[in-house]
Amino acid sequence: MVNRFIRDEKDNSIKHQYQNYSDNKTDHSSENIIITPWEVHGDFEDENYSKLIEKFGTQHISLDLINKIKKITGEVHPLIKFRYFFSHRDLDWILNKYENGEQFYLYTGRGPSGLVHMGHLLPWIFTKYLQEKFNSKLIFQITDDEKFLYNMNFDRNRIKNYVLENILDVIAIGFNPELTKIIVDTEHIKSLYPIAIEIAKKITFSTAKSVFGFNNMTNIGMIGFPPIQAAPCFLPTVLENKPTPVLIPAAIDQDPYWRITRDVAEKLGYYKPAQIHSKFLPGLSNLTKMSSSKPETAIFTTDEPEVVRKKVMSSFTGGQPTVELQKKLGANPDICPVFWYLKYFFDTEKKSIERFYRCRSGNLLCGECKNELANESVIFIKDFKKRREKARDKIAEFMFESR
Ligand code: TYM
Repeated sequence: MVNRFIRDEKDNSIKHQYQNYSDNKTDHSSENIIITPWEVHGDFEDENYSKLIEKFGTQHISLDLINKIKKITGEVHPLIKFRYFFSHRDLDWILNKYENGEQFYLYTGRGPSGLVHMGHLLPWIFTKYLQEKFNSKLIFQITDDEKFLYNMNFDRNRIKNYVLENILDVIAIGFNPELTKIIVDTEHIKSLYPIAIEIAKKITFSTAKSVFGFNNMTNIGMIGFPPIQAAPCFLPTVLENKPTPVLIPAAIDQDPYWRITRDVAEKLGYYKPAQIHSKFLPGLSNLTKMSSSKPETAIFTTDEPEVVRKKVMSSFTGGQPTVELQKKLGANPDICPVFWYLKYFFDTEKKSIERFYRCRSGNLLCGECKNELANESVIFIKDFKKRREKARDKIAEFMFESR
């Protein structure tokens, strides 16, 4: 298996494409999957996620591991049960550490390239849950440098505005202010830089090219950026003054960063960071990742209720072209973003299973699901917006203090 690069027509940059060339035959189901931390393309059906596990060299979340989580926390979160979080690295190791009395930090983040949509919220909602269950400290990194360097049309003021807007979303999630610190790279670089240069010194350009798809046209700011996102993996060890395990909940697109971080960790005397990887929440137009660059297919936390309703009602579904055919043949919830949203945000397990079978058997029409999703999303976003507003007074409380 080798990695292949393809050129993105939008911005002329080189993307990494994972393909299996081992027997010279193209693997069609994963052919169009492209994943870098900056671009994600492809249809993400379950089968393709399993292939990603093989290609990225991560682990399935096994039943044994689920039982271990249950033993420690007394329950299994629906996002694990439903396999939205589907893959990991060293989750078993970090749980062993916890059982032996070693507290771990959580680390996650946001690249402020726009407003926040519901896809971004899922890893953060799950991180909040982990924080509550394990009483973990959390470092939340905002990579304003990354997004400035990557987006050729963005000036610093635009990014600064997104930093503020995104911080409101992070606080609105409900993290514990006593355990959570937000790092904005350009403001807190003093605390990251000493660690970042240790990491940078151990990574060759050749490795960076093969992991991230950099080429001669990539600006050198981007080439130098990955150690800045890697640094918070080791910051807890510096802050606590003892080796401190770190668990990163994020979608699988961020994995290239953790691969290089894990490669250098032990050489530098740190624990390798553990990860738990999620799938992507699809956009409302199909099963590709929800993306800010297609605003009509993403529900933003700042959208007005009528806009949310309109987007949901215009969503793609797994339905048949006519009501008659749907009643006769049933529909396909596996490829339906409306089903996914209801499942991961609003339905109970029981309700989701019932919905699945009613949909498959033709006893449920898409209009009904869309209506339910529109109603639930409107309530959710209205409430979230109130919490965002309250967050304005709490920013100082959440910000990291450089040392
Ligand atoms: P960003 O801003 O692209 O994404 C923020 C978080 O949301 C996840 N994500 C999604 N999850 C589900 N469905 C989607 N459609 C979707 N789109 C994005 C991402 O995986 C991420 O967890 N470079 C990072 C910022 C960062 C970071 C980190 C992220 C810095 N340190 C540590 C995770 C962990 C970025 O641009 O994320």
